[in-house]
Amino acid sequence: PDPVLHKAFQDKFHIGAALNTHQLLGREPQEMEVVKQHFNSIVAENCMKSGRIQPRQGEFDFSISDAFVEFGESNNMHIHGHTLIWHSQTPQWFFVDEEGEKVSKEVLIQRMKDHIQTVVGRYKGRVHSWDVVNEAILDDGSFRESEFYKIIGEDFIKLAFRFAHEADPEAELFYNDYSMSNPGKRKGVVKMVKKLKKEGIPIDGIGMQGHIGLNHPDIEEFEKSLEAYGALGKVVISELDLSVLPSPRRDAGANISDNFEYEEKMNPFKEGLSTSVEAQFNERYTAFFKLFLKHQEKISRVTLWGVNDGNSWKNNWPVEGRTDYPLLFNRENQPKTVVMDIIQLTK
Ligand code: G3I
Repeated sequence: PDPVLHKAFQDKFHIGAALNTHQLLGREPQEMEVVKQHFNSIVAENCMKSGRIQPRQGEFDFSISDAFVEFGESNNMHIHGHTLIWHSQTPQWFFVDEEGEKVSKEVLIQRMKDHIQTVVGRYKGRVHSWDVVNEAILDDGSFRESEFYKIIGEDFIKLAFRFAHEADPEAELFYNDYSMSNPGKRKGVVKMVKKLKKEGIPIDGIGMQGHIGLNHPDIEEFEKSLEAYGALGKVVISELDLSVLPSPRRDAGANISDNFEYEEKMNPFKEGLSTSVEAQFNERYTAFFKLFLKHQEKISRVTLWGVNDGNSWKNNWPVEGRTDYPLLFNRENQPKTVVMDIIQLTK
């Protein structure tokens, strides 16, 4: 029989995939077959973000998120909700009144509460875990100056967790962020979560997104973070993908839109991956899964940020039209050889 990812990891941790709107609207039946066959957990890539689910105050659109939850239920999956409070993709109405003036702290807290409790309440007992707050800490460990932070102060974080817990006391609640192996961010996140726990705030764990590349982050730093977060609760690898493309963020001074030559360099594997890069890719994925298995007692879920290479956000970031290969299934929905390599690790 064909090797099946989630079966290989069944006594270790859930293995998940992020689903996009096309898939949930039934336009990608083959990809949905891959999800059913290989994954036992799902997360919504976009349809539960506040801009999608409450685009105008009090007007909720649950059409796609309902389909997402129904798909998970009919396939007996762990269903994870992403994300309740995030500085990005939050509609502007949250922060301003009818006159266009910035709302008071009290008003924003009430809006946060209504949003969280309506969304979590609708899926009470059905969505098993939530990213309550996403990306609130910067790489240097300080708080991001988001609208939530500027209007409410750091208390917006604990309030969000309280509101979510009130709406569904059984759901597991997570803080989720990127660059989580960065020592500065680690320090900030550990400090914040310790404080929340001391105050009795219901936080069950920490999500390390895991948007990795061939040369970043340093896997030893990643492990240090796993251990530090693991000491505070559950850890999930919430958004795993492995880009083979150069990262302009780390390539200081590059002007992405004007420099044609640079753009060429930005998409070096348009026609296919070279054998040597594919080998590096396999090695790197395997090394990370080895690390996850080593810490399996602490890790409750590893979720890939997408199903196949063709639908990864990495093809559109930071410029559209790149050709990346970050996931475990190729554009034809076939498992890559690395799938066998990581399954082998569980034997
Ligand atoms: O669906 C519309 C389409 O109708 C429209 O024509 C097109 C034009 O721009 O946009 C489409 O929506 C895009 C959507 O992805 C679906 O492709 C949005 O513009 C785009 O902003 C959105 O990007 C998402 C991004 O978060 C911002 O919300 C990515 O798909 C999604 O993978 C990414 O996920 C984030 C996590 O939530 C948090 N952690 C980082 C991660 C990667 O950035």
